[in-house]
Amino acid sequence: RGGRLGNISMEELMDHNKEDDVWMALNGRVYNVTPYMEYHPGGVEELMKGAGTDATDLFNQVHKWVNYETMLKRCCVGFLTSTSTTSA
Ligand code: HEM
Repeated sequence: RGGRLGNISMEELMDHNKEDDVWMALNGRVYNVTPYMEYHPGGVEELMKGAGTDATDLFNQVHKWVNYETMLKRCCVGFLTSTSTTSA
């Protein structure tokens, strides 16, 4: 995906929660993790737990040490406009 990265709302993020179209927010950046899915050592089911969500906390609970930024460099699709999970 070329060009500039845009801002992505929580609503748009939540739209990408199917196994063939998975986005995930980590520390304010949104990644299309669909291409990585089959390579995830923890399996598809585990990765799907964060599908369409801000998975920062979950990711850090499981493997804070994993360098996802390098691994997913080419998969970044933009920035999450708000990381708030408490708003209605
Ligand atoms: C391993 C869960 C996202 C990379 C694992 C394991 C689990 C897990 C349970 C352990 C598998 C095992 O040892 O049997 C999750 C969950 C995620 C998530 C719940 C988000 C919802 C990611 C992402 C990446 C990633 C985004 C990288 C782009 C890895 C790597 C390992 C791993 C490299 C192997 C780590 C090691 O053995 O030290 N994951 N994962 N995971 N995951 Fe994830």
